[in-house]
Amino acid sequence: MSDSTRRDFLKGGLALSAGGLLLPSLAIATETSGDLGKYGEFVNQPRPMPTPAELAATRLREIAIPAGTAPAANARATEVNILGPYHRANVPFRAKITPPLEPGPVLVIRGRVYGLDTRQPLPSTVIDIWQADHQGRYDNDDQQRPPAANLFVNRARIMTDENGYYEYETVHPGAYRIGPNAWRPPHIHYWVRKPNYRELITQLYFRGDQHQREDQFIRQSLIIDLREIRTQHGVYKVGVFDIVLAAR
Ligand SMILES: [Fe+2]
Repeated sequence: MSDSTRRDFLKGGLALSAGGLLLPSLAIATETSGDLGKYGEFVNQPRPMPTPAELAATRLREIAIPAGTAPAANARATEVNILGPYHRANVPFRAKITPPLEPGPVLVIRGRVYGLDTRQPLPSTVIDIWQADHQGRYDNDDQQRPPAANLFVNRARIMTDENGYYEYETVHPGAYRIGPNAWRPPHIHYWVRKPNYRELITQLYFRGDQHQREDQFIRQSLIIDLREIRTQHGVYKVGVFDIVLAAR
């Protein structure tokens, strides 16, 4: 490595470590993988997948994207709910809310975001999600020991697809106590943002939790049902939480 190349390399490395966002100066664009060319005919053997009728009998049936149900003509916007003290800004976009192998019953939450004005799905809607772990603890609930600025546990942002659909995997959050006779029942926080629509801060809850009687913030419209799915790999639950945003 020449001196000037070494200087450029060090400069790039320093920029990366100082800000964390700059590419090293010697970086190159990510390569394309090319195509299989003459090998394609050997590897591109069709793999039989279940027909829609057969799908109902396989473990894959639960990952098939369900058809959406457009809001009724007299639908209302999804109810607002409290922000609470545990929101953190600038959480990363990632495909799973919890860290790998996070303890707790596995949940899949899915739904669609609609506009109240058009009753159409809203693509590219950002959903900021945060929740307690299965023991009812947030990553930032101990003010004496706040999390590192780049460590986000049980929180993420996701975005709806071109059909307004979203889905994520997480674990069932635990309840937590906020007073002598006051609990927050298990819930997942949402902050939903879409240009030209009112921002929605809300929470979803799970039907039947014993602590719901001891909570003054819960709203009946925000309670969802969970359905248990048994597979050869274990058990998880699925819930649907559709959202309707009011236009500005
Ligand atoms: Fe909370």
